[in-house]
Amino acid sequence: MSLFRLDTSILGTRSTTGTLADLVEQEWRAAAPDTPVARRHLGADPLPSTAWATAVATAFVPPDRHTPEQREAVALAATLTDELVAADAMIFAAPLYNFGVSQHLKTWVDVVFTDPRMAPGADRILAGKPAVLVTARGGAYGPGMPRDGWDHAIGWMRRIFSDVWGLDLSVVERELTLVGIDPALAPLAEKAERIRSAAEDQARAAGRRLALREGAFPV
Ligand SMILES: Cc1cc2nc3c(=O)[nH]c(=O)nc-3n(C[C@H](O)[C@H](O)[C@H](O)COP(=O)(O)O)c2cc1C
Repeated sequence: MSLFRLDTSILGTRSTTGTLADLVEQEWRAAAPDTPVARRHLGADPLPSTAWATAVATAFVPPDRHTPEQREAVALAATLTDELVAADAMIFAAPLYNFGVSQHLKTWVDVVFTDPRMAPGADRILAGKPAVLVTARGGAYGPGMPRDGWDHAIGWMRRIFSDVWGLDLSVVERELTLVGIDPALAPLAEKAERIRSAAEDQARAAGRRLALREGAFPV
């Protein structure tokens, strides 16, 4: 049994999604202390921005004529896919940036799609695996808010992880994380604190469900 954790924040140790993912992982570890956890941190160690286009280009060139860069891009796609295939459960930590998905996460998904095992139309080799997605945003874009619907990341992430890859996905969301930083949000301080506390509870619960789902808890 093994866990794969993907982080994507560019904010280092201040990462909100990193903190939420830590809570999920702690519950997993409490239940299954000896299981391996494979990690990839795209914020700290981004994929090359050219990898995706290079990997796509290999489709039009016979393998024996691939350039060294193309061979490297194909190998990278295989490595990323191997990490997903090897995992019994997954945690994805992915914040909202500029009203959309982080470029690092988008590149990672794009490169994964170039591996033949993950290509559109291939058998869904990850289907049914349990996964937790934790996300965070500085503002609030829910119903009734002036910018209702401006989070264009969460829908795409659900589409990929749940609908396309077929993962058994739980989602933990925290918003208003810029309260305390953006003075314009100061009146929302109490609400933000309630949201923080609820999101942390949800992260712990999602971690316990992840472990239970994988039979990590002794019965
Ligand atoms: C470059 C950048 C762009 C951001 N863009 C948005 C945005 O469009 N909307 C929003 O609500 N929050 C935005 N935020 C705030 C983040 O979503 C928020 O700080 C979140 O908690 C970040 O998660 P992390 O700490 O795990 O990186 C942005 C933050 C950064 C650093």
